[in-house]
Amino acid sequence: MNLDQLVDSFEKNFGTKAGTLRFFAPGRVNLIGEHTDYNGGHVFPCALSVGTYIVARRRNDAKLRMLSLNFEAAGMMESDMDKLTYDPAHSWANYPKGVVKIFKDAGFAIETGFDALFYGDIPNASGLSSSASIELATSIMLKTLYGLNIDMVEMVKYSQKSENEFNGVNCGIMDQFACGMGKKDHAVFLNTNTLEYTYVPVKLDGVSIIIANTNKKRGLADSKYNERRSECERALGQLKKVLDITALGDLTEAAFESHAHLIGNDVERKRAKHAVYENRRTIKAVEALNEGNLALFGELMNASHVSLRDDYEVTGAELDTLVEAAWANGAIGARMTGGGFGGCTVNMVPSSSIPVFIEKVGKAYEEKIGYKADFYVVSIGDGAREI
Ligand code: GLA
Repeated sequence: MNLDQLVDSFEKNFGTKAGTLRFFAPGRVNLIGEHTDYNGGHVFPCALSVGTYIVARRRNDAKLRMLSLNFEAAGMMESDMDKLTYDPAHSWANYPKGVVKIFKDAGFAIETGFDALFYGDIPNASGLSSSASIELATSIMLKTLYGLNIDMVEMVKYSQKSENEFNGVNCGIMDQFACGMGKKDHAVFLNTNTLEYTYVPVKLDGVSIIIANTNKKRGLADSKYNERRSECERALGQLKKVLDITALGDLTEAAFESHAHLIGNDVERKRAKHAVYENRRTIKAVEALNEGNLALFGELMNASHVSLRDDYEVTGAELDTLVEAAWANGAIGARMTGGGFGGCTVNMVPSSSIPVFIEKVGKAYEEKIGYKADFYVVSIGDGAREI
């Protein structure tokens, strides 16, 4: 589907294409720093070249009309700008609706409605942030259509707020930040406690990033995501009785080990251990990449997966099988990426062996799991924008 086809489809579904504008926001893949973003730690994601496209136009009345070419069977979603409530029947459209509601509640002057056609080329429910991509594409559309005075970091925060409050998922800020602030050929090293960030060039010299999709669908809300978050909060509460910290990300490994006994519950202690060690691994991984030490970067990725599997327990047979097959077939580093329980893995693979890698890992996965995985070679793109 190219942009002209999208505009034609807009015309077909909304009458005319006069006055339409086009927007894009990418999906993201996280290289390392998993389940650290709601623990005040660091993350290291990059924006993808795939994402969500919107063709849109302001209306003169207060109606909101939205259609997704990915969910055509769901039909046209119609709503009144003054009655924006979560509606399970609106499925995908609750993401853009939530953003509009949050912007309006924040006082931005969005009086009239709009017509919008959505199309995404991120595999749906694959853990590559199709929802954050929709939210950021919606944000940049609102900014442009209504001439709002708002910068990208604010849009990122409102998008996260909308996912938290409107869609009921207690996600951290990583996905929205990567989809909004991503930069071509760079990963974003973000401190989620302070929102300080730097762009790190991803120059891999003969090595490629491959995403492997388990094709096991997952939704954040119905996974154990919110439960993990509460477990970490309870662990932090125990530590705070003695330590002057605001988040698990404030701790070094040594400080954690000497206070871990304060966390009475074994499961909560394991969750907190992951959050602390993963944050430190992320800092070390960025140092390694900056020094061109890909071997160390890969080892840290592998350790990240082991910790997500054993201490955080968010992997499962599909993700573990894909990662183990990658380790056995020449990956420099491989780990699950995103929320877990399904979705994708991220792999550093020598570029010369990509076809063999895909064939062998794909075969091992299908033999064990019973259906196929998909593979994509990553190209790192820019964040949300008008196109
Ligand atoms: C999901 C959430 C993010 C982050 C990751 C895990 O993608 O949306 O905020 O917590 O899981 O790292």
